[in-house]
Amino acid sequence: MTASFNPDEYKSFQVFLEKACGIVLGENKHYLVSSRLTRLMRDQHIASLQDLVKKLESPGSQKLRIQVIEAMTTNETLWFRDTYPFEVLSQTILTEFKNEKKSNVRIWSAACSSGQEPYSISMITDEFSQQNPFAPKVEIVATDISQAILAEAQSGKYDALALARGLSEERKRRYFSSIGNQSQVNANIRARVTFREGNLLQSYAALGRFDVIFCRNVLIYFSAESKKDIISRMAKALNPRGYLMLGASESIAQYSDAFEMVRASTGVVYRLKH
Ligand SMILES: C[S@@+](CC[C@H](N)C(=O)[O-])C[C@H]1O[C@@H](n2cnc3c(N)ncnc32)[C@H](O)[C@@H]1O
Repeated sequence: MTASFNPDEYKSFQVFLEKACGIVLGENKHYLVSSRLTRLMRDQHIASLQDLVKKLESPGSQKLRIQVIEAMTTNETLWFRDTYPFEVLSQTILTEFKNEKKSNVRIWSAACSSGQEPYSISMITDEFSQQNPFAPKVEIVATDISQAILAEAQSGKYDALALARGLSEERKRRYFSSIGNQSQVNANIRARVTFREGNLLQSYAALGRFDVIFCRNVLIYFSAESKKDIISRMAKALNPRGYLMLGASESIAQYSDAFEMVRASTGVVYRLKH
């Protein structure tokens, strides 16, 4: 496939992708589209981007839609990404819930990729409970649009390369067991996490209410309109005074006034005002 498309076919693909998963493709991303889709199109005998869009719009294209979305999304993640969200979770959020004698806490890892984020949350919970006998019980719901990445996440198995990104030697020792040439997150850490398929553009009603939402490094790919819509629906999915944790380069200032910014000692988190 060529790395340069005619403006009409490129536009139709941009429209498809944004409608399907929220991702806004810039005008200059022809090379990205080509490199991510060449193999899939070759395997499916699809000759051009125009033909691909036509197929995607025809009935019975669900499997192809999923494959295209999976090819176009970025799954980059690591353990304890940016460190501070997990310190804030432990030092500010869980500490506050414990002081309030809250017995159950629900945390949503929205767009969880291969599982490093929800399992990092589960490890923090484990460490917090070891240090605090009356710590609340924590349940973690982890969602992503990609079935393939969710299957990886659910297995809890990682190769040495993935393991090397963000884990201390102590956490590797404490929370993983070797399985062949991979390492698997221990059952007690996995047990706290439930994985579910979920598109952030669709309803969150089936997930229930949360005390904390981690929505990190996904809204950066979306339009201002989608960000506004997602953040306002997340506000409704939070319990009163619940917390929202965004990615290090993300802010909600222009998108919602339902939250106040809380400056914890190690970083920023947003809190529902009411
Ligand atoms: C860059 S990863 C971020 C992973 C993790 N939150 C982190 O910060 O390390 C982005 C994830 O968002 C998922 N994603 C993209 N569009 C989505 C959508 N519309 N709904 C749910 N997940 C989506 C992708 O499949 C990918 O796994």
